[in-house]
Amino acid sequence: MAVLVAGGAGYIGSHTCIELINSGYDVIIVDNFYNSKPEVINRLEKITGKSVKTYELDICDCDLLEEVFKDNDIDSIIHFAAYKAVGESVEKPIEYYNNNLKTSLNLFTLAKKYKVNSFIFSSSATVYGNPKSLPIKEDFPLSTTNPYGTTKLMIESMLMDIGKLEDSFKIVILRYFNPVGAHKSGLIGEQPQGIPNNLMPYLLKVAAGQLSELHVFGDDYPTIDGTGVRDYIHVVDLARGHVKALDNIDELEKISIFNLGTGRGYSVLELKDEVEKASGKKIPYVVDERRPGDIAECYADASKANKVLGWKAERGITEMVEDSWKWQKENPRGYEVEMNEIKK
Ligand code: UFG
Repeated sequence: MAVLVAGGAGYIGSHTCIELINSGYDVIIVDNFYNSKPEVINRLEKITGKSVKTYELDICDCDLLEEVFKDNDIDSIIHFAAYKAVGESVEKPIEYYNNNLKTSLNLFTLAKKYKVNSFIFSSSATVYGNPKSLPIKEDFPLSTTNPYGTTKLMIESMLMDIGKLEDSFKIVILRYFNPVGAHKSGLIGEQPQGIPNNLMPYLLKVAAGQLSELHVFGDDYPTIDGTGVRDYIHVVDLARGHVKALDNIDELEKISIFNLGTGRGYSVLELKDEVEKASGKKIPYVVDERRPGDIAECYADASKANKVLGWKAERGITEMVEDSWKWQKENPRGYEVEMNEIKK
């Protein structure tokens, strides 16, 4: 079965490609390497021992994208291709709406034209806004606080309408909590551009001596130690969630929504302690003001994915952090150094 992975060279996309290939799916990556590197493809081939069909193009260009559909008999699409930085989305809302909506509309249009059977959309727990209670279930009210989140919610709404059409097209919306970790090989991982916005890559850079100290955004939240609590999930568990969705697609309803999280939250300081343990480095920190738009606590009720898909996050916090640290330690400059240079 051929799966088009839009944004397949990115952090979550690349880990998902490995799990798909290992489960016997034929993968076709489409990526413009806007927020990823072509070197990722070499590493995917090294890990899987297979050549990975890749098209370098901008999914916003529908004519170019259509060539991929003409060349291949595509059964399913997994759509990861999006801009994803919350802060940047506030500065550049037009770019975010333009890119995230256009890529989605082009994929929907061609999926219909070429009679693709299923579509999996990469959504986010950000669509729950500030939840009234925890853990978060799929039927909680939806709202957003920034343009990035709004694009996710708008695309979900489009899919709800598309799901009402009388055809056999199946839709799965996966709402991710906070992905961290990296593939066990240490060959692929997360490489944010510039100074990381997210906690885990920031902690790794402090542990590696590339940044001087962690800035903790508020320690007066009503949480275990006053710092923000999130549901960190190993990216390989997340990747496997996509495979489970595809494996079960025939039994699913026309449109399904699943949370992918562990159901357990960790605070900023707890995660810092874990990174200190894994790296053996002391992580200095200062407490700053709360970051605008942040919520105190967020963790999933992931029981629906367990019940319907037979999926469950298997990797705990120690493994998440150890795998993240291995990636950081072995690739201090991310994908800048080509694999054939470091493995000699
Ligand atoms: N934090 C710090 N210092 C930092 C970075 C983060 O203290 O340098 C804190 C935040 O205040 C928050 C926690 O660490 O309490 C996690 O922050 P992240 O930026 O790592 O993650 P968020 O939960 O804010 O957002 C992430 C993704 C979003 C996604 C959301 C889904 O960045 O794209 O999870 O829940 F929508």
